[in-house]
Amino acid sequence: MPDYAAILKEIAEVVRPLTAEGKVADYIPELARFSRDKFGMALYTTDGQMYTVGDAGERFSIQSISKVFTLVMTIRLVGEALFSRVGKEPSGNPFNSLVQLEYEKGIPRNPFINAGALVVTDELLSHTPDAMGDVLDFVRKISGSPTVQYDLAVAASERSNGFTNAALANFLKANHNLKNGVEEVLEAYFYHCSLAMSCEDLARAFQFLANHGVMEQGGPRLLSESQAKRLNAIMLSCGFYDEAGEFAFRVGLPGKSGVGGGIAAVLPGKWSVAVWSPAINRQGNSVAGMKALELLTTLTGESIF
Ligand code: DON
Repeated sequence: MPDYAAILKEIAEVVRPLTAEGKVADYIPELARFSRDKFGMALYTTDGQMYTVGDAGERFSIQSISKVFTLVMTIRLVGEALFSRVGKEPSGNPFNSLVQLEYEKGIPRNPFINAGALVVTDELLSHTPDAMGDVLDFVRKISGSPTVQYDLAVAASERSNGFTNAALANFLKANHNLKNGVEEVLEAYFYHCSLAMSCEDLARAFQFLANHGVMEQGGPRLLSESQAKRLNAIMLSCGFYDEAGEFAFRVGLPGKSGVGGGIAAVLPGKWSVAVWSPAINRQGNSVAGMKALELLTTLTGESIF
């Protein structure tokens, strides 16, 4: 078995200078409060060992990583029927692209671009009376942390500046691919994107995707083996938007990024991992985070390929 503790330490040393590259997201003004100097990483093995380095215990805004949680909850409720409303092909376009949605007549390419995540949130709202309470309960359960919370300042900040998401939601509604009200869907979406979690929380929360659908060894099953495989397939092909190919090429793991600078990824059968560094590249993915995961698969010799 690789010496994960030593490898994480080495990664942190190599990657620290990269925290100076990229830009901390400020299109959601409240995200700009996070210092670009932060770097944290947590690796959680399927036999229950946690390895951490740097700011792995500090909570940050997980943003689009939350789309994995809402997708899992929705698949648990409605199964494959969801895919009549949203595709499963890589977008090759930015996460908030309006043009692609128009070309494709209101059926988003995949559940991880913003339009697709809005459809997933809409489906979730249609099946749960208290969707946002349920999302919080679910995330607290799978992360093993009862103190995980929404960051209301981040949610409010996105609400006052979320004009592109409002445009996407309105276009979905105009194309009859939104069942609930535009405002209701946007509100729920901004809330789940605002979830504040640490790398340790995320590494635990993603464990079931490394464990073929089971939360921990001997724990509850959240997805069937086939559903877990499919979730990982969507993360591999769509988790990094127009940089999904680059991430697969450099890292070789299914994963999901957020504009808060977090990335969570899994190696099925072995471990889940989360990394955080706030400065992101043009595609919305953490610069230091991507390098850290590239080094992880290089130094351990472990990836899905
Ligand atoms: O909708 C947005 O723009 C944000 N709440 C989430 C975007 C995001 O995290 C994209 N990921 N890299």
